[in-house]
Amino acid sequence: MDYLPITVQMKSRHCLIVGGGEVAARKLKHMLHADAKVTLVSPEYTDEVLEIAEKHEIRLVHEVFSPEHINGFYLVIAATDDRMVNRQVSIAAQQQNIWVNVVDDLELSTFIMPAVIDRSPLLIAISSSGVAPVLARKIREKIEWLLPDALGSLLERLKLLRPKVKKKFSSLKEKRSFSEWYIESAIQDSKVLEKNEDSILEFYQQQHKPEGIVYLVGAGPGDPELLTIKSLKIIQKADVVLYDALVSQEILQRVRKDATLVHVGKRAKCHYVHQDQTNQMLVDYAQQGLSVVRLKGGDPFIFGRGGEELQFLTQHNIRYEVVPGITAAAGCAAYSGIPLTHRDHAQSIRFVTGHEKSSKNSLDWNSLAQAGQTLVFYMGLMRNQQITDSLIKHGRNPSTPVALIEKGTTKNQRTVIGQLNELPQLVEKYEIKSPSLIVVGEVAELANELDWFKDGELISSNNKIVAKNDFGATERDNRLPLVANV
Ligand SMILES: C[S@@+](CC[C@H](N)C(=O)[O-])C[C@H]1O[C@@H](n2cnc3c(N)ncnc32)[C@H](O)[C@@H]1O
Repeated sequence: MDYLPITVQMKSRHCLIVGGGEVAARKLKHMLHADAKVTLVSPEYTDEVLEIAEKHEIRLVHEVFSPEHINGFYLVIAATDDRMVNRQVSIAAQQQNIWVNVVDDLELSTFIMPAVIDRSPLLIAISSSGVAPVLARKIREKIEWLLPDALGSLLERLKLLRPKVKKKFSSLKEKRSFSEWYIESAIQDSKVLEKNEDSILEFYQQQHKPEGIVYLVGAGPGDPELLTIKSLKIIQKADVVLYDALVSQEILQRVRKDATLVHVGKRAKCHYVHQDQTNQMLVDYAQQGLSVVRLKGGDPFIFGRGGEELQFLTQHNIRYEVVPGITAAAGCAAYSGIPLTHRDHAQSIRFVTGHEKSSKNSLDWNSLAQAGQTLVFYMGLMRNQQITDSLIKHGRNPSTPVALIEKGTTKNQRTVIGQLNELPQLVEKYEIKSPSLIVVGEVAELANELDWFKDGELISSNNKIVAKNDFGATERDNRLPLVANV
């Protein structure tokens, strides 16, 4: 790009035109149109120039040009038919860093004037960078043809609407979509321009109620750093966040500061917000056009009632997206050093609920008691005795290793390792509280070897609290530390 197109505010700025003929008269009209204060220098002037000068406050200097005439001007135009004079004007102006245009002489000009379509305040300028001014004028004619007549009044309306639009819409996106809609409507039907600003804004808002959305987001098991980048972005933009009891304060602190926070989990006095109420709230907020986050511990589709909530949203035609989270089994096992699968011990994993919808025990204990798999019981604490009895009764070895993981991935994590037949006693003895997971399977014992999480507490089957070395790994009496000092 050889030239930068800019529009210059000329109102009350001093402009010098050197010349007094036909070309000078044309340039004079342009400058007057832009409200510039014009001085002309020329030994003689045509009648046209004299006439214009009389009507407007134009200073006419009846002299041959000399470089001193340039002093103090903002912009200079050389419009004589004498190239020597034009050159003198150009040199004098450039020496003082004054913008100069020499008509039809690119070489001597520091700026050039484009072909202009003037529908003030709308200006369309077409420049061929001085290479083909005729072509630029032809293009201008073609564009003029395409432009709707009401363009000038449209701009006037937009100018009047501007402060109201600014007040009405908070986001740039909303402001832009209103302006796009208004321009498009006015071009199609100029009657739109006759409506006053308030009624047009009201009309637009009725037609364009923002569409609400619900994001079903998994907040992970506790450690806020286990939030995914996507969930973080969404909670930082949400208007409303409905969250469960398992969502930690550290995570809630990351929610947009002016968002509405609604606790829909278990409350201090054991009051529940009923699932139906939560579903309805999601719909109500979304129908107000808000961006709503349903924030759940772990993953929303794993024992999180996420499916039920989405079915309700579907029935009410509410748009939604699902953002998965790290489920408690994955998070707690990782932070306790328990690999849920291991080629020597477990070829499959089962996530099992200890809290079924109906109270009757409908789990398939025969299949759950099979060896070679890891079972992770969610919400199983209250039914630990039944889990123990059922598994042993259906054939799982009573000495199968088990782990109880309380408040996993948080700085209050406790992991108790023992064996299946002592599970109820471990719960009682260590006063294990919710939220906790029960892991059943040979892999549970690997925590004694692989535990790494410095903030967590590991209690091994011999009732000993295992200390951690500098690397977070547990130190065992008869084994070398996991990470060698090098
Ligand atoms: C209603 S379920 C929700 C599970 C969640 N949607 C998930 O994917 O992790 C709640 C149960 O998850 C388990 N849980 C959730 N977070 C836990 C944590 N940080 N430590 C131990 N167990 C946890 C507990 O068994 C708790 O009773």
